[in-house]
Amino acid sequence: MSVLFEPVALGELQLANRIVMAPMTRSRALVDAIPGSDMVEYYRQRAGAGLIVAEGTAPSASGLGYCRTPAIYSAEQMAGWQRVTEAVHAEGGRIVLQLMHVGRAASLHNKPAGAATVAPSPLRARTQVFSDSHGLVDTDEPQALTLQGISDVIEEYRQAALNARQAGFDGVELHCTSGYLPMQFMATGSNLRSDAYGGDVTGRVRFARETIEAMASAIGAGRVGFRLCPGNPYNDIEDHDPAATAAALCEAVAPLSLAYLHIMRSPLEGLDAFALARRHSPHALILNDGFDGPSASAALASGEGAAVSFGRHFIANPDLVERLRRGLALSRFDRKTLYTPGASGYSDYPAYQTSAQEVAQ
Ligand SMILES: Cc1cc2nc3c(=O)[nH]c(=O)nc-3n(C[C@H](O)[C@H](O)[C@H](O)COP(=O)(O)O)c2cc1C
Repeated sequence: MSVLFEPVALGELQLANRIVMAPMTRSRALVDAIPGSDMVEYYRQRAGAGLIVAEGTAPSASGLGYCRTPAIYSAEQMAGWQRVTEAVHAEGGRIVLQLMHVGRAASLHNKPAGAATVAPSPLRARTQVFSDSHGLVDTDEPQALTLQGISDVIEEYRQAALNARQAGFDGVELHCTSGYLPMQFMATGSNLRSDAYGGDVTGRVRFARETIEAMASAIGAGRVGFRLCPGNPYNDIEDHDPAATAAALCEAVAPLSLAYLHIMRSPLEGLDAFALARRHSPHALILNDGFDGPSASAALASGEGAAVSFGRHFIANPDLVERLRRGLALSRFDRKTLYTPGASGYSDYPAYQTSAQEVAQ
């Protein structure tokens, strides 16, 4: 039996197996960024994962920027998430929440009235986002955060970690990639600051470090993870030396006994992100990107990491763990319904027993 199906502890998180569901934005939240019944059912169906990392979720109104993404700053949002965590726990699963502040990768059309778009520096991301009201739109010109503004945002993350625990999550993960706020601070192309939060690599990783420290002090380091993908250019990110930046953050938070580092393969030729993480981080690694059952088993068997996360395979295979265990065929997902509202192409993918393959046999 592959090590994939063996239990593992990541900090305070006890996983029944080493198959993690990667965070995936699916744009199913209801009005006011509240998780509804479709989200409860979708996550309940996937509770066989050793750990679910629930989709990128805003710690504050200014952290929102895409359409129909969830948040966790209001009592109504917390109540919606509580139904999700209760459903997952009732099935014996574990679930942490990914905290995602989009920073400049945002449109005001996707934010509550009065919420600002903020970033380390007043530089617009050369990219577009979709909004239900206006279709594809350019991202906003962001306001540069003041020092007070930075400490306010870190406090929002701290409070969001507390809110997540109160809503029943087993922990939180800080999203430090894909061109969102922590990575905007980390990268030379989006951070032109000359104060303590910019300049050299120590300054550029300070925001992420202090945010992780704040979350760990609020709920315990053993319930906090962070996610990196060195060299990820998504959302117009440019960095002079992505490997050095990622290594600096790993080392900056090394003294904390965090639950895990969720590390994605680098898109850059010659940059081995897993090796970088093993060299610069003492934390348990969740490996990600492009795995299937056999390659995940091989990576864990060779000691590359403690667990493997799967994103796309979980979309059309709610019972992915069972399918991998039994060597069953995997279903393919429909791209057209990745981000559309409602249950279709979301919580209506069947488990194997009732799936089309078997009906056809
Ligand atoms: C529809 C979709 C939404 C995603 N949303 C997020 C997200 O909210 N946060 C994040 O860190 N990664 C996000 N990702 C990336 C996945 O977590 C994962 O890294 C990626 O799909 C590669 O893993 P895979 O090859 O197993 O699919 C998303 C991916 C997909 C396909």
